[in-house]
Amino acid sequence: MNKIFQAKMDVDKTIKELSQNEKKVLLTLKKLKGSASPENILKNGDFSQEVEIMNASSWLQSKKLVKIEDHIKTVYALGKEGKQYLEQGLPEKRALTLLSKKGKATLKELSSVLTSQEIPVAIGWLKKNKWINIKKDKETILEITAEGKKALKAETSEEKTLKMLSEKPNSELDKNKIKSLLTRKNIIKEKEIITSTIVLTNEGKKILEKGIKIEDEISQITSKIIKTGVWKNKAIRPYDINAFSPALYGGKPHPMVKLIGEIKQIFLEMGFEEIQGDYVESCFWNMDMLFIPQDHPAREMQDTLYCKVPSKVKVTDKKLVDKIGQVHEDGGKTGSTGWGYKFSKEEGERALLRTHTTVNTIRYLYNNPKPPCKVFSIGRVFRKENIDSTHLPEFYQIEGIIHEEGANFKQLIGVLKEFYKRMGFEKVRCRPGYFPYTEPSMEVDVFYNNQWMELGGSGIFRPEVTEPIDVKNPVLAWGLGLERLAMLKFGLKDIRDLYISDLGWLREKPLI
Ligand code: PHE
Repeated sequence: MNKIFQAKMDVDKTIKELSQNEKKVLLTLKKLKGSASPENILKNGDFSQEVEIMNASSWLQSKKLVKIEDHIKTVYALGKEGKQYLEQGLPEKRALTLLSKKGKATLKELSSVLTSQEIPVAIGWLKKNKWINIKKDKETILEITAEGKKALKAETSEEKTLKMLSEKPNSELDKNKIKSLLTRKNIIKEKEIITSTIVLTNEGKKILEKGIKIEDEISQITSKIIKTGVWKNKAIRPYDINAFSPALYGGKPHPMVKLIGEIKQIFLEMGFEEIQGDYVESCFWNMDMLFIPQDHPAREMQDTLYCKVPSKVKVTDKKLVDKIGQVHEDGGKTGSTGWGYKFSKEEGERALLRTHTTVNTIRYLYNNPKPPCKVFSIGRVFRKENIDSTHLPEFYQIEGIIHEEGANFKQLIGVLKEFYKRMGFEKVRCRPGYFPYTEPSMEVDVFYNNQWMELGGSGIFRPEVTEPIDVKNPVLAWGLGLERLAMLKFGLKDIRDLYISDLGWLREKPLI
């Protein structure tokens, strides 16, 4: 397609997409020799309001068919005293009228036509204009001069300005000519106003040369137009689907909320039930129950956030506490030798913010020791971590257990691989790991963006954990990190980005 032909095509397209008001503005401008103020277009075109012209003109400007030129104008209007003097006359003129009748007057006599504030003003101007002479005898006496008499017959330039401004407020005036009025208070006001001129551009002229017609067309389709069939016989204005319009965003869930929903869905589909727990727990349930020795380094202030209020959480099942204490000390009936230290019940009652959601699954097992069961929980846990690009002191864990006859390690690997596969991670690696409450134990990693990322721990609960609560069958257990998974999913390099509430990236995320 050659260039000229292409340009011609554009003209046709532009004409087609003009609205009625845009066409009317262009035609009126043509009539007004290519440039006019909105008021002038209003007078000469078929419009009912100036805003219609301004709206259409800014659309025309965006299509480069007109230019809106703004000018700042200084204009003047009557002030409060200006209006008053227009009716009563300026103070010096009123004084002069009185003097011309009497030839001369005392200050006292002036007060019959002037207020006490106006007298000094009037005398000042009378003297300045050489309309009076002042004589001081016993009293101050004002005498009219020949010039004063002459001045009375003519309209002064000040009076002319006041009259003119009352007829045409907001007029542009020569500042030099109104100096004396401007020095006086509240007689006239200076204002700055912006006026626009709409000017046809060369493109606009081209469109007019090509010719535009105002036809009765449909610019907005309504149900009425469709029902009555009116659309059949009328032209419909084409839409410009490439026209710029600002993006509108409705409210939507945070990507993390959405992701949690997806994970829940996966576990539900795999036949699991959801369980929940509290943030504040006792050491007993969070650690003792899981055969974590009371002198374990993870219990130190380093990792665990202990609570001041409440500082203790009572453990109600005293028999269980005794049993667990025994297991810690010498293994009890579990066949284990235990840790070989003196178990403290008080230590078990210390209150903490749960450090893992394994506390939820162990409590569930205690309340439901009969197999089979498949439960999961997604919840927040707390640890004394320094915040950096891969650590937060508060994060989510995806926890789960399978308790059934014959449950085994291979099954555990299979279930975790299946979960990650459903989350979109094909490559999963299981490595040997260590947790005081599982044997065997393993770590789970996923491969993503050319690197392995450690996502969580798992294993089969030890007899030290299951025996005291009468659980006889194997329990497969896992606790996986959610935020790291989210980082991989959302392509984030910094874990903190998940919680910064930056609408920019929240809107971008493909998940939502
Ligand atoms: N509780 C462990 C953690 O917080 C994860 C885990 C859960 C390990 C269950 C084994 C079994 O890292």
